[in-house]
Amino acid sequence: MNNHPRNERTLALIKPDGIQRSLIGEIMSRYERIGLKLVAMKMIVPTKDFIEKFYNLDPEWMIKTGEKNIKAYKDKGIQHPMNDPLKVSRFILDKLKMYYTSGPVIAMIWEGAHAVAIVRKLTGITEPLMSDVGTIRGDFMLDSYKMADDDKRSIRNLVHASGSVTEAENEIGHWFSQNEIIKYRHVQEGILYDVNIDGME
Ligand code: PPS
Repeated sequence: MNNHPRNERTLALIKPDGIQRSLIGEIMSRYERIGLKLVAMKMIVPTKDFIEKFYNLDPEWMIKTGEKNIKAYKDKGIQHPMNDPLKVSRFILDKLKMYYTSGPVIAMIWEGAHAVAIVRKLTGITEPLMSDVGTIRGDFMLDSYKMADDDKRSIRNLVHASGSVTEAENEIGHWFSQNEIIKYRHVQEGILYDVNIDGME
């Protein structure tokens, strides 16, 4: 039962721009109304060191992020101004540290079937310019990699969401201790997951 997909958990962060844009309720309602269960939440102003460690939980993050960003430029027919993956990701991480420490962040753990993939789908892809309409980043933000890089700042995309189950486990451990995670049954779990729903009427 513990390995059932309904028990999957993911980390979602409302970044400082999400809070300053008064989108807390809007963002949370998108995760809530699909049927996910909120099992932990807190508001903090993180330190730069906490953010540096957060993005380095995955030892591959620096190289992958730099390569992905250079490719995003290439796909649009633009030459990246740095073109060196590690330099690019160092720049991105330094800007992320400024961004995250500019004000409060809301950290949340959402639980439910395929929580990682569902939260990523509702959130939309990293660059708001390319995020689908209907996603949080596509509906509420208009930023692009180029504009952020030219202005020497982090891309503002309202939220962070874990990219895989392993990443989610590591990220949850970075933001929360076990005793901050609440185990409870939500009434709607019956209609979402019970095998036999006879007698609902
Ligand atoms: S993602 O959404 O996790 O798949 O994003 P990924 O591309 O793997 O990681 C990049 C993270 O760096 C943030 N960031 C930027 N990326 C590219 N270019 C610029 N200028 C930039 N500024 C910040 C991006 O939002 C990703 O962080 P998260 O927290 O995952 O959104």
